[in-house]
Formats: sequence, C-alpha cells, structure tokens
Amino acid sequence: MTDEIFEIFLATPPGLEETLLLEVMEAGFKRPETTGGGVTIWGDWRDVWRANLTLRGTSKVLARVGDFRAFHLAQLDKRSRKYAWGDILTKGQSVKVDVATNKKSKIYHAGAAVERIERAIAEEFGATIAEGLEDADLVIKARIDDNNVILSVDTSGDGLHKRGHKQAMGKAPMRETMAAMFLRACGYDGHEPVLDPMCGSGTFLIEAAEIARNMMAGRARAFSFERLATYDAAAVQSIRDAWQTRPSDQRFYGSDRNVNVIGSAGENAARAGVADMCTFTPTPVSSISRPDGPAGLVIVNPPYGARVGKKKDLFALYGAFGDKMRAEFKGWRVGMITTDTQLAEATKLPWLPTEAPIAHGGLKVKLFRTDPL
Ligand SMILES: C[S@@+](CC[C@H](N)C(=O)[O-])C[C@H]1O[C@@H](n2cnc3c(N)ncnc32)[C@H](O)[C@@H]1O
Repeated sequence: MTDEIFEIFLATPPGLEETLLLEVMEAGFKRPETTGGGVTIWGDWRDVWRANLTLRGTSKVLARVGDFRAFHLAQLDKRSRKYAWGDILTKGQSVKVDVATNKKSKIYHAGAAVERIERAIAEEFGATIAEGLEDADLVIKARIDDNNVILSVDTSGDGLHKRGHKQAMGKAPMRETMAAMFLRACGYDGHEPVLDPMCGSGTFLIEAAEIARNMMAGRARAFSFERLATYDAAAVQSIRDAWQTRPSDQRFYGSDRNVNVIGSAGENAARAGVADMCTFTPTPVSSISRPDGPAGLVIVNPPYGARVGKKKDLFALYGAFGDKMRAEFKGWRVGMITTDTQLAEATKLPWLPTEAPIAHGGLKVKLFRTDPL
C-alpha cells in the first residue's frame, strides 16, 4: 500500500449531507466538505477501509483513483487503455463501468463512454466485463465533467445500510444508514433510552443500541475493497482490532401492532448482538406506556399514505400517537419521519422548524423534531 492520498467520496441521500459531515468530523477524517449527495474527504486506503467499516451514515465509499482529459471518444479509448488498471483491479474479478456525463463535456453519450472504458479494461488488463452493475464484483465509476474524466472505484459493494445482520424485514423498512443519521439529527449520542412505538423490523432501536455500545457498524459484512489490488488484510484487521466498544445498559423499547414484525425485530436484534438491551412488544401505539426511568428519545416513522395504508386513515393514527406523547411522555423528545406535513401536524406536537426534505425510496421524507415535551 502506498501512502498517497486522494479524494474519497462518502455518499448519502441528498438532505443528510450536513448530518453526515458531523459524523465524519467526529471520526477524525481529513478535509471533510459537503457536496451534493455526500461528503468528500482526503485520505489513503486506510481511510477508505475505516470509512467503510466504521461510519454509520454513508451509503457508499468511492475512492478517486485517477483522472484524465478526454474531448472525444477516441481520446477516451486511448487514455483508458493507458490507465494502470493493475494498480486497482485484481485478476479474476468481473468489472462493470458506470458513466455519468454532463453538458459541459464533449463526450455526452454515456453508453458509448462505458463501452470504450470497458473494452480498454477487458483488452489491456484482461478483466471479464459483467452483464450489469448488480452482477459485477467491482464497479468503476467515471464522471465526465467539463471534459475531465474522473475515475472512482466503489469500495463498498452492497450499500452500507446492509450491516450484515438483518434478515427479517417488515414493510417499508428504514435504511440503517438513514436511521443512524436521523438519530444523530435528534441529538442521540448513545446515552439515553430510545422508544419506537411503530418499530417494524426494529431498525432505529438496533442502530441506537449499537451506538450506545459503540459497536463497529460494518463488523458483520464484506466489502468490495477486499477485492481490490490495494487491499491489505492485516492492515484492515488492525483497524478492526483497534476499535473499542463500550459497556452500556441503556434500554431500547420497540412496539408495533403487527405481531409478525415484532418477532422479526427481536431476531434482528439478536443477530446484531443487542437483544439484551431491547424489549419488543406487540402493542398498538394507543396502548403503549411510558417506560420507567429517565426520559429519552421517541423516534418513529409511521406509515405514510403513499407507501403503506391510505392517507385518510392515517390522521387518526398520527393523532393517537400525538395524544399519547402529550399525555404520558413529558420530558421526552420526539423525532418523527414522514412525507406529509399535514399528518405531522395532526399529532399536535410542538414541532421545531424543519430542514430540507430527504429522498427515501422514491419519496421525500422530512424529520420533524420537538424539544423535550
Ligand atoms: C413505515 S413502517 C416502520 C418501519 C420501521 N422503522 C423499520 O425500519 O422497519 C410503519 C410501521 O407502523 C406499524 N403500525 C401501523 N399502525 C400502527 C398502530 N396503530 N400501532 C402500532 N404500530 C402501527 C406498522 O405495522 C409498520 O410496521
């Protein structure tokens, strides 16, 4: 491994960049800056591995591995053939190229650019080209901006919301990466109880419990970086070994009216190694009770009209949730993720001003937050 430093892009859904920036700064990465859809840092391969293994909020880690100018396809072909693919790729891995170009570039046809770069990789390096992005062992991303071809490699593989221990899912699960960012945006730092009264597969509570014990986000999964020529297994192991969890007996309370998803939440928590901190109960939101002990955070993403259930039926549900909070959860903060401001208002909770909406599963969601009730 060389100590050369390069730009590393940490992707996140647009709208969560500032929250991810806070996590990245706390983790001590160098020169963090927000850009559209993510945060860039500068670092070496050790930083790429550490970002994949430890950050909770990023959905992908892309390492910038080269750039060159190309004003037309023949030049793209020639310069792609000259690129030292052996510095990045290893033999026997299938590769797919993904190109994004823009109007400032003379090469405007992404498909033709993909074809040139893939042919260069196949003929000069001898890699097999995969059918689609999903089938590829490794994905090279080329962004052609103002006639500059910027090559990056996807070092994560599967999206980083796949922590590796969730098998059972309810309807409309929250991505773990987003759940972690929403918890952070609600001021959660691992030192208070969390309750989710419509917890589905338990995503918020499992993330919260892992944060409380400072468990490494990526401890149970594989990454594309393990297939790259730059991979150093001993160095990656040393990052894992240096990581320190902390003891916590914080409590996490999940309930849902759907008995089946409550069972799945328990199984997911057990696989994540946090079952001893979590209690899951099959209860409708109107019947939950305030846990004994100190106040903490209630976080919830109730069904939204466009995804699960019909909007007109949801007003009563949001209203019942709000009534419960106002009657019994004095001192607790509330965070609610929903698509619909009118539904949020139906809770009659004292929402703080909201931030920009966030793209989630083809919809735009917003985080609504209160101060302690
Ligand atoms: C959008 S999903 C939540 C997904 C969850 N955050 C996850 O990551 O899996 C909404 C959940 O609200 C639950 N729900 C709907 N009405 C409810 C009610 N009256 N009481 C409790 N839970 C309810 C549904 O069963 C569903 O699991």
